[in-house]
Amino acid sequence: MDVSPEKITLIQPDDWHVHLRDGSILNGVLPSTARTFRRAIVMPNLKPPITTVESAIQYKKRIVSALPKGVEFTPLMTVYLTENLSSEVLKKGHREGVFFAAKLYPANSTTNSSDGVRDLSAIDSLLETMENLGLPLLIHGEVTDPKIDIFDREEVFIDRHLSSLIRKHQGLRVVLEHITTEPAVQFVESSSDMLAATITPHHLHINRNAMFEGGFRSDFYCLPVAKRERHRLALRKAATSGKSCFFLGTDSAPHRRQDKESSCGCAGIFNAHYALESYAEVFEQECALHNFESFASVNGATFYGLPLNTNLITLARSPQVVPKTFQLPGFCEREEYLVPFHAGHTLRWSVVFEGANHEDRSA
Ligand code: NCD
Ligand code: ZN
Repeated sequence: MDVSPEKITLIQPDDWHVHLRDGSILNGVLPSTARTFRRAIVMPNLKPPITTVESAIQYKKRIVSALPKGVEFTPLMTVYLTENLSSEVLKKGHREGVFFAAKLYPANSTTNSSDGVRDLSAIDSLLETMENLGLPLLIHGEVTDPKIDIFDREEVFIDRHLSSLIRKHQGLRVVLEHITTEPAVQFVESSSDMLAATITPHHLHINRNAMFEGGFRSDFYCLPVAKRERHRLALRKAATSGKSCFFLGTDSAPHRRQDKESSCGCAGIFNAHYALESYAEVFEQECALHNFESFASVNGATFYGLPLNTNLITLARSPQVVPKTFQLPGFCEREEYLVPFHAGHTLRWSVVFEGANHEDRSA
């Protein structure tokens, strides 16, 4: 890695947690992810979710065919765990090289999670199979108990479920996705190297006040919901620490404008297009650019036992204004757009593309 006041050059990063959706949204957002990331773990919470080997194969094909010409990008597919899933499906998907990991959504914890798991003990034999196969478990770590305050759901999940799960399945590789709290940071740091966590750009930039600044701002509503400032500061320290248990996962989760702004608006922040620049800003503010490459390009690949990417990517100190809206192709109606994270704000760094392969659709 090469860091100077004007330029950062690092191994091309990967996004270890992204929602690419399907259909026209997939076509709209995929170039943003493939613009900077070489690989990405693709979340399976479609409607219906990806619960079979065949549906994962077909979804992967749709992703690959939506790639801009000449762009090298590998989608790593996940299967959505349900209480009805059979171990045979996990074994087949693993054997055929289709499933890279399996995703656990506690039922009704977030977008399209109603088919998720109600009772963790019901999937214990699946977890055992995964442990034997070496298939990683990716967790949306929040309890859904309505009696638990929404701001406490991650911490309670760790206490009630995660600690016993990792004790029981010590050979299972587990990622606690998009962590949002200081207790989660501490838990991951003090666990074995079979447990890691992804951290999103938005949880590094905003605390829960962002959702209520001058009115209700659904653009900053995601799950797990942003927490108090003290938690944001703990996340920034963790992400920029260089520790191998923390790595990049954008959780970019696009929802059309009208789906965010409704009486029951969807959870999710679309950050894919400027994610790398957004993270770079945090590392610079924390005087930790020397650890940027570990977080973005090394720790995740190492955890998953994958080779590091061979390409390099460069960011230049060249400020750019993030557009207020992101139009989806094929839509002409006024409300058919996304609002990107940092909309209307200036980011200090810009990714420099030397090749002509990377289409920039943000303009
Ligand atoms: C995600 C989505 O929209 O699919 N939403 C979100 O707020 N992060 C689901 C998830 O990862 O929780
Ligand atoms: Zn997610």
